[in-house]
Amino acid sequence: MGGVMIRINENYLKLEASYLFSEIAKRVAAFQESHPEQEIIKLGIGDVTRALPKACLDAFHTAVDEMGDDASFRGYGPEQGYLFLRQKIAEKDFQARGADIGEDEIFVSDGAKCDTGNLQEIFATDITIAIPDPVYPAYLDTNVMAGRTGLFNDGRYDGIVYMEGKWENGFVPALPDQKVDLIYLCFPNNPTGTTIGKDQLKTWVDFARDNRALILFDAAYEAFIRDDQLPHSIYEIEGAREVAIECRSYSKTAGFTGTRCAYTVVPKSCRAWSVDGSSHLLNQLWNRRHTTKFNGVSYPVQRAAEAVYSPEGQAQTHALVNYYLRNAELIRNEIGKLGYECIGGENGPYIWVKAKTDSWRFFDTLLKKAGVVCTPGAGFGRCGEGYVRFSAFNHFEKVQTAMARIGEAL
Ligand code: MLT
Repeated sequence: MGGVMIRINENYLKLEASYLFSEIAKRVAAFQESHPEQEIIKLGIGDVTRALPKACLDAFHTAVDEMGDDASFRGYGPEQGYLFLRQKIAEKDFQARGADIGEDEIFVSDGAKCDTGNLQEIFATDITIAIPDPVYPAYLDTNVMAGRTGLFNDGRYDGIVYMEGKWENGFVPALPDQKVDLIYLCFPNNPTGTTIGKDQLKTWVDFARDNRALILFDAAYEAFIRDDQLPHSIYEIEGAREVAIECRSYSKTAGFTGTRCAYTVVPKSCRAWSVDGSSHLLNQLWNRRHTTKFNGVSYPVQRAAEAVYSPEGQAQTHALVNYYLRNAELIRNEIGKLGYECIGGENGPYIWVKAKTDSWRFFDTLLKKAGVVCTPGAGFGRCGEGYVRFSAFNHFEKVQTAMARIGEAL
């Protein structure tokens, strides 16, 4: 068989064999198979364990019933999301915090992972990308798939500007020392749990403005912020409307990892340029992409998300997040007692621990000796080597058991 044949996107060959969380799931499944008696406690992937808040569940049920009646049945909805949800988002998540965002700047979607992964599509393939290290792997992998990098060498892709997070800088990287076009930031941070203050975030906004660059700000964990001084949105920073896109999610805020609902804000004042030097509105480009490739989130799910903003929904989601933050506090305290240094877990669900050894080795030891799953820091980039991440998403009693077992194992 010779001649013409279907060919693959060769960029996929540059990727590591499997996505970080798939690799972990594979290792855990293999261990479970050979140790069926071991009850494994997962503090690895950040997946919620508690039921949907009642306000969301009630709204979900009501909307499902509406779908069962010809009179209230709905077919395709607006690709950008129903106005009832976008209006609530604009009002409660932004305007209430002094951030000037309107409902026509919001795009409801099925996940922040999808949005942060898909957004790169509206930019040229030869732009320069600045990515923190350690980082949530989807930002990087999607740019590799799009062909914005060279090969993977010694833990790094050629062509990417890595912004290094270290213990010494509290895992908030310094501004790039070269011109870059698209900057990925995530606060409260995944994987390190670290946060950023308004003044520091302003330096990033100013940098983007000075360089005609754009920030992709992932705020999926903003509901975990308990320190009143910290910004919940990049649009609380003056000047951000021109240079930032923000992604949010109901996954961790309201237990929607299996329900799927998120949104992205693309302000009408964000621009990027074509080769002839003319500027283009990113809101229009993203709208074109979204309407072409996406048919919207289901009606009942959007009603469930809307319920987050009701008084009961606000109280219930706050309590839900507090539950996980109590887990985070327990993990921080117990890990500290065992003589390990850590950061995070105060305004975010992740605790970033100095492993005192190679991070995959720590992962294996914990799995084998304690039956507890964490995430090896090296999976988030070269600067993550020597660290592991604990997720606070589990039942409190399981976290207690996990910490007791870790105490015996280490
Ligand atoms: C994580 O564990 O980093 C997250 O759960 C992954 C995600 O939200 O996709």
